Order: sequence, then C-alpha cells, then structure tokens
Amino acid sequence: MNVWPPEFGPHSIAHHTANGRRLRQQAINGAIVGLARLPLRLSSEFYVRLSSGLGIAGCHRQLNATPTRNGHFPMQIDLTGKRAVISGSTLGIGFAIAKGLARAGARVVVNGRSETSTAKARDRLLADLPNAEVDAVAADLATADGVAQFLKQVPKTDILVNNLGIFEPKAFDDIPDADWMRFFETNVMSGIRLSRAYAPAMRQNNWGRIVFISSESGLSIPGEMVHYGMTKTAQLAVSRGLATSLSGTGVTVNAVLPGPTRSEGVADFFGKIAKEQGKSQADIERDFIATHRPSSIIKRLAEVEEVANMVVYVCSQQASATTGAALRVDGGVVNTIG
Ligand SMILES: NC(=O)c1ccc[n+]([C@@H]2O[C@H](COP(=O)([O-])OP(=O)(O)OC[C@H]3O[C@@H](n4cnc5c(N)ncnc54)[C@H](OP(=O)(O)O)[C@@H]3O)[C@@H](O)[C@H]2O)c1
Repeated sequence: MNVWPPEFGPHSIAHHTANGRRLRQQAINGAIVGLARLPLRLSSEFYVRLSSGLGIAGCHRQLNATPTRNGHFPMQIDLTGKRAVISGSTLGIGFAIAKGLARAGARVVVNGRSETSTAKARDRLLADLPNAEVDAVAADLATADGVAQFLKQVPKTDILVNNLGIFEPKAFDDIPDADWMRFFETNVMSGIRLSRAYAPAMRQNNWGRIVFISSESGLSIPGEMVHYGMTKTAQLAVSRGLATSLSGTGVTVNAVLPGPTRSEGVADFFGKIAKEQGKSQADIERDFIATHRPSSIIKRLAEVEEVANMVVYVCSQQASATTGAALRVDGGVVNTIG
C-alpha cells in the first residue's frame, strides 16, 4: 500500500513517535499542564495532516494511540500487541487486509488451503514489511473440520476478518443443491464458526473486532449468481445480529461491502473472458462496469488496498463507536444514500 500523503515518510513518523513518547510521559507523570496541552498539540500536528487524506494504514509502527483529554484517540492507527486472523488471505482482498493490519503493527495470521500458498503469502508480506509479525496457517475453512484444525493452531485472536468468499456466475436454473450448500458453508458458515469460537474471549477482554467481508451483491443481488448474493446478504444479517448480541461490550462487529475489486480471483476471471473474446482485459473490465454495474460512480474496479483501508480503520481503536454497520466500499454502485 502506498504511503500517502507523502509527508508520512520515515522522518515524520520518527518525529511523531518521539513527540508521542514525550506526551505520554507527561501524562504518566500526572503532569496536568502537559495533559491539558495535548489536544492543542494534536490538533496542530495530527489532525491537520489526517484531514488532508487518510494516512490510516500508511505508516508501519505508528504512534501508540494516546487518548486525548476527553478519552478519544487521535487518528493514528496502532494495532501493536493485537493479533489478527484473516480468513482466505493468501491473495486478493484478504492479503491486502493482512498487509494493512500488519503495517499498523498487528501480528497477523494469513490463511489459505495449502502450506505452500500460506508460506508464499507470508514471504510476500515479509518482503514488503520485514518487521511484520506473520503466521501462516493452512486450513480449509469451508468445512467444520478445517475450522476446528485452524482453531487448534490459533485458539485466540483480538481481530477476526471473515474474508473468505467464493463466487461463480451460474444461471439460477443450473445451480444444484450442492452448490447452494457449498456457497453457504464457505461464505457464511466459515465466518459463523470462527466468530462463535473467538467472540467469548473478546467479550471477556472487553475488546475485539469482527469484520465480515460481504459485498454490494448482498444488497443488489446479481441475477447471474443468486447463490453468491444470498450468502452476502446472510453475512449482513449475521454481522448485525452478532453486533447486537455483544451490546455493551468493547467488541464491535461490522460488515464491509466491496464493489467490483481487482483481486487475483477477479483478475483471473476477466483475463479468461478477455482471452475467449480476443479483447484486452482493460476493455473487458470497462465493459463489465458499463453493462453490469452502470451505477458505479468511480467507473472502474476498486483496488484491493482501497477495501483494506476501510477494514484497517474499522479494526482500529478509533472505530470504537462503529458497530452493527454495513460499510460500503463499492465505488457508489449501490444507488442509495443510506
Ligand atoms: N473481488 C471482488 O470484486 C469482490 C467484490 C465484493 C466482495 N468480495 C468479497 O471479498 C472477499 C475476497 O474476495 P477476493 O476476490 O479477494 O478473493 P480471491 O482473490 O478469489 O482470493 C481467494 C482467497 O481465498 C482463499 N481460499 C479459497 N478457498 C478457501 C478455503 N476453503 N479455505 C481457506 N482459504 C480459501 C485462497 O487461498 P488458497 O488458494 O491459498 O487456498 C485465496 O487466498 C470474498 O468474501 C468476496 O466475496 C470481492
């Protein structure tokens, strides 16, 4: 993920970190005068930079968020000390989320079905972020047994991103029972099983973040893959219901709804069509948006990092009042205001 705005370079991070340490020390010593100045310093040094653009996941090892006088956190995301599990994260949106959370300081668990793909994902992540803490755990999370295996290796987490999801265009008449069940098991039950296992300890700790990666297809059900749409709507129900069941705790549960996004899975899909039709992939992608998602405001596929940025925010300390929400990163595809 690119560091943006550009002034969030190593120099400015070091400056903020040093400044942050000084401010924290003042607070620890009970220096009331220093504490009273905190919001003023923060407003001039942090808020101005951040109001000019999201530096959210842009800095590795950011300032450990220090509450302001009224207990709120300045907009510097630091997840140091938090463990994050991201299902289906060797590629695509899941990998970008793992990288974003690792960049914010979380110890991340990347997951895929094979030892090879998970080890490769870990190496790829470490190549970009050498100081990151990354565990690679192979398990097929589309089955109850696979989830049980996974939980043996990762019994606890502070952050759970239920990203795993499969899609496949198929006419309604051609979708057999087995496909309906496979989509439900993979896209919905994987998240339910993991959430059910991890939520009790989060509740006990009075802190936790659970995110379901749903889709704009959960709101605008595509006629060409109703079974996929069904699972994405089901995730919204589970996410909202689980958030309500954790009411009054420090655990938030949200759904993030990407629109068409250039993940590896989607790029492969468009690549195959381009080959079949003898067109360029860029043309196929443009045609897809124009024909199948004409309400798109951005008129392009999103990049995986654009989705990951929202997820990193919603997993942050700062997002503590956002729960039970369905947060769209769909480029405006869903034509409603709410
Ligand atoms: N891309 C989009 O346009 C778009 C739009 C809206 C919503 N979404 C949602 O975003 C999420 C990610 O989509 P994506 O397009 O980034 O996916 P993707 O590129 O197809 O990536 C799939 C990932 O899932 C892993 N995986 C597949 N089956 C698995 C299983 N049974 N157990 C564990 N891991 C498994 C794969 O790892 P291995 O191959 O290593 O097993 C890979 O890391 C999905 O929930 C999808 O519905 C995507």
